[in-house]
Amino acid sequence: MNRAPLIFLGIFFAIAFSWTGIILTNQISYGSLTRYVNPDDGKAYPQASPGEAARGKLVYQDLGCVYCHSQQVRQPGFGIDIERGWGDRGSVARDYVGEQRVFLGSMRTGPDLRNVGARFAGQGGREWHIKHFYDPTITSVDSIMPPHRFLYETRKIVGDPSLKAVQSLLPEKYQPAPGHEIVLKQRGEDLIAYMLSLKDPELYPEEAARVYVPKASPAKKEAAK
Ligand code: HEC
Repeated sequence: MNRAPLIFLGIFFAIAFSWTGIILTNQISYGSLTRYVNPDDGKAYPQASPGEAARGKLVYQDLGCVYCHSQQVRQPGFGIDIERGWGDRGSVARDYVGEQRVFLGSMRTGPDLRNVGARFAGQGGREWHIKHFYDPTITSVDSIMPPHRFLYETRKIVGDPSLKAVQSLLPEKYQPAPGHEIVLKQRGEDLIAYMLSLKDPELYPEEAARVYVPKASPAKKEAAK
């Protein structure tokens, strides 16, 4: 008996079903999702990242940070991300509108980074990252995150010392030889700009319906006793 038509139909339906399930239904659900224009300030959210942060995203991709870090805050009930301070709300599809490549990640060896720009902001945040990337144990005792010292350069001071020299932030053991200074390479600057840019906007209309009041954490309960 010639089974070729049957095999062909089997393969055809297997592909058609998975295409419908994986691509078509998602396209129907999310394909028309756009940025949300906030009536208060007239700006569209999520906003596009500026140039340095966009380059930093490529560094993030290149260095494989995604193998230890996720960028999706789980909804209440699916994890304790909000109690851990990784965001004020769970991530929603709209957060990723306009991103060509999304680093959701599945490993949570380190904290979720979706809102890391809110946790470490401004100049203080920048300095925190400078120490942390140089040697994560400076800021986080017992950290197992690998140091990223190749993002820095130790160089001889020629003329005036650089205003961007960072060694003053580092402990004694990392101080360069006299007449030398440590500066960030451009990739390091970009990566830090990307870290500082990571922050999901306030609630969208679809999220306002499920404002979440975190349960008191065990530490807080202890303090309340
Ligand atoms: C081997 C796993 C691993 C890799 C790879 C890794 N990290 Fe981490 N990361 C961790 C762990 C564990 C922590 C928590 C301890 C700490 O603060 O160092 C952490 C913490 C962090 C924090 C602080 C987050 C917070 O809220 O305290 C940032 C920022 C960060 N990592 C960025 C990065 C970036 C950017 C890369 C890629 C260049 C990267 N990590 C690669 C494991 C990793």
